[in-house]
Amino acid sequence: MSQQNWDATEYKEHASFVPSLASDVIELLNPQEGEKILDIGCGDGELTYKLKQKGCLAIGIDSSPSMVESTKIRGIEAYIIDGENITYQNEFDAVFSNAALHWLTQPEKVIKGVYLALKSNGRFIAEFGGDGNIAALLEAMQRVFQENKEFGEFKIPWYFPTTEAYKLLLERVGFKVKYIELIPRPTPLKSGVEKWLEIFAEGIIKELTPEQKNVFLVAVKDKLTPVIYTKKDGWVADYVRLRFEATKT
Ligand code: BEZ
Repeated sequence: MSQQNWDATEYKEHASFVPSLASDVIELLNPQEGEKILDIGCGDGELTYKLKQKGCLAIGIDSSPSMVESTKIRGIEAYIIDGENITYQNEFDAVFSNAALHWLTQPEKVIKGVYLALKSNGRFIAEFGGDGNIAALLEAMQRVFQENKEFGEFKIPWYFPTTEAYKLLLERVGFKVKYIELIPRPTPLKSGVEKWLEIFAEGIIKELTPEQKNVFLVAVKDKLTPVIYTKKDGWVADYVRLRFEATKT
């Protein structure tokens, strides 16, 4: 699996800002009553539920069993499917995704699967981390790995493309790209940077011992305090969103 095995309770408590910041991409999707829409990386189904409330037949997929369970509890059809392994054929009016595609490091597979899943003229609308996303966080994590050689090699588990690179991938498969933009969106981390690291950087620290994890968390926080923390605003992550709309031709 390329995504983490998210725990839905932990996610709800510390990462509820993720779906709550999705109003612009939902507006771009402009869901219409009766449309069949696939939500890739649906998480706990908060946005899938919004689509359902608008009268859509919304189906969620996520690689985390815990998240899929939480989505189903809302009365939504949902499946444990990784976005790189979509096998639907000509079924959906639209495919949607918020804050999930950067976890899928084989974008060609995702895009091909989405293309095949869409009906003719169907639209693919999504937002995820783009080029420059969490640059300060990444630099601090990388420096801590460099300073602690016993941590091993620093590997980035995310895919943050430029608009040019992503547009090319979409066009190669046959999509017509109507809109694509990188949008800096500084994002407050209400639960603090340590919690963010524990939840979201799990892929980076999972091989470390509990002691090494502590060293990592303290050192990264120290490096980031002068960069992304202020008394007035607290911790604010340097998120950059890549938002796009593409149509199956
Ligand atoms: C993001 O939404 O940009 C993101 C979240 C967690 C880890 C990396 C990126």
